Amino acid sequence: MSAFGGEEDEIRRLVIDCDPGHDDAIAILVALAQPRWRVDGITVVAGNQTLDKTVRNALQVLTVAGRTHVPVYAGMDRPLVRDLVTAEHVHGESGLEGPALPEPGVKAQPEHAVDWLARHLREAGAPIDVAAVGPLTNLALVLRREPDLARSIGRLVVMGGAVGEGNITPSAEFNIFVDPEAAAIVFGAGIPLTMVGLDVTHQALLPRAEFAAIRALGGPVPEMVADLLDYFAGFHQQVYAFDGVPIHDACAVAALFEPTLLTTRRLRVDVETRGQFTDGRTVCDLWGVTGRQPNAEVAVGIDRDGFLDLLTASLRRLATPPAPA
Ligand code: BDR
Ligand code: CA
Repeated sequence: MSAFGGEEDEIRRLVIDCDPGHDDAIAILVALAQPRWRVDGITVVAGNQTLDKTVRNALQVLTVAGRTHVPVYAGMDRPLVRDLVTAEHVHGESGLEGPALPEPGVKAQPEHAVDWLARHLREAGAPIDVAAVGPLTNLALVLRREPDLARSIGRLVVMGGAVGEGNITPSAEFNIFVDPEAAAIVFGAGIPLTMVGLDVTHQALLPRAEFAAIRALGGPVPEMVADLLDYFAGFHQQVYAFDGVPIHDACAVAALFEPTLLTTRRLRVDVETRGQFTDGRTVCDLWGVTGRQPNAEVAVGIDRDGFLDLLTASLRRLATPPAPA
């Protein structure tokens, strides 16, 4: 049995809900590279950029990876009640600046992401795991419409929030800040949820010195990833003086495939929706002072080397090694 209760040799299934985004793109690639996992679909939300761009980016990533059979569904183009805030300052005008990407080889599916995800969870016949690595708008709507679908999600890993820091504000992490009302619904839904926040993603930097080794794996996927990393590193150097990049979303998906990478604590997490300075904060009750029921496994530590090994092994599987001379 795995740590999440599945048989070792069965194929596990997941849906990725995302807003690509440099680290979303790498998270998608890591998921596609797992031999024992199948990506049933990719649902897309507005976040890092507007929805038209995040959908296009997802399709371009699949095109470069030669995996256009994985269906992409466009979801919500704005948060539940707020105006959209994007992260153009991090991900650039397209949301995926850096590499020269081809035109997408396929289109998004005609069905809305929220309709598809609800239908898929309802009809799957067994719980499906979900990696949610953008604002939680799509998932919140699914749960608002059909709260019982919470039981159809095996494990939900959320890249979002933090115990003790913020990036879009001093208090809040971007994904939660963009749609805190949606995050409050998802954290309150009773789903087995693992929160992978900034406290751990900032511990798992991929050093700049290793970008060349990724490019050298060979072929279009490593080349795209290396170009993404070069661009992403510029922002992180400028703002955080990091000599490397946190690949936030890839940390979250990796935790599905290799749960032992994380050290977690079972905590009560509430999402601030009415703060003057703290909107979107994930308020983690470290000492149980609220007496409220814990609702999340909160990542408080990460095996950085294990994560980077998983990342590299995944990209190696998607590489086309240079032909011998
Ligand atoms: C999160 O925000 C986005 O910019 C990234 O894609 C990641 O999901 C990090 O705060
Ligand atoms: Ca993201």
